[in-house]
Amino acid sequence: VRSLARVGILGGTGALGRGLALRWAMASVDVRLGSRDAHRAEDAAARLRERLQDRPGVGAISGGTNRAVAASEPTLVLAVPLAGLEASLAEFGDVLHGRTVVCAVNPLAFDTAGPLLAPVPTSSAPTSSTPMSSVAETVAAALPETTVVAALHTVSSHELAALGRPMDDDVPVVGDDIDACAEVAALVDRIEGCRGVVVGALRLAVGLEALTPVLIAVNQRASAHVGVRFSRLPTATDTTSDG
Ligand SMILES: NC(=O)c1ccc[n+]([C@@H]2O[C@H](COP(=O)([O-])OP(=O)(O)OC[C@H]3O[C@@H](n4cnc5c(N)ncnc54)[C@H](OP(=O)(O)O)[C@@H]3O)[C@@H](O)[C@H]2O)c1
Repeated sequence: VRSLARVGILGGTGALGRGLALRWAMASVDVRLGSRDAHRAEDAAARLRERLQDRPGVGAISGGTNRAVAASEPTLVLAVPLAGLEASLAEFGDVLHGRTVVCAVNPLAFDTAGPLLAPVPTSSAPTSSTPMSSVAETVAAALPETTVVAALHTVSSHELAALGRPMDDDVPVVGDDIDACAEVAALVDRIEGCRGVVVGALRLAVGLEALTPVLIAVNQRASAHVGVRFSRLPTATDTTSDG
């Protein structure tokens, strides 16, 4: 697996993008934040660099328009809100040909009973074999020349920004390109306390997207910022030593 030393974040000025940028830069990964407005991205990047200024060996953090970032980076996290997805794909989708895009978009809604899974706008009606579609599959259908992976739905931006403590998260990764999944999992592994877990095909993205309202409901009841862990998952070392 190629170890990625750079990543772009589309919608990178938001809470998730800024948190990931801090953690990846701390792991010597170069990060480019994208925005609809180049100045907003440059400002956000400057503030993050300032937060890391006393740390040795940090990666570079820069900013630009989403289009410029998509054009310069082979691997990109898609971190825009669902409400902005269509406009975002219209803004920079054509520049994503040949790229790997990690979709972190959660289809989330709230009503008086709390958080719930929002319906995903889709061009085709659900069928019995695919009763629900995910944001990630919608993105993959819209971008046939792009490798789409889905991951990072359950990491808390609050925890990412709390640099005093390592993360404590498994990060399930799904996608139809196994090499791309492995690369993304390795990129996740670079964040201290995060473990990328390759799960399987992109059609399982609906399960990952559906975890977020569950976690938010737990957070609301427990005043916490929980993440997920897969218990009893053997590590590569366990597998070889057990035969
Ligand atoms: N926050 C979390 O803890 C977390 C964790 C996992 C996954 N996620 C998912 O990751 C995505 C980003 O989350 P976030 O909390 O960082 O979101 P956010 O702050 O609401 O949005 C991220 C960025 O997207 C851009 N944006 C906002 N509205 C837009 C629109 N209508 N069209 C195009 N771009 C727009 C903005 O950047 P510019 O104005 O600079 O263009 C904004 O800074 C969401 O889909 C969320 O479900 C979030």
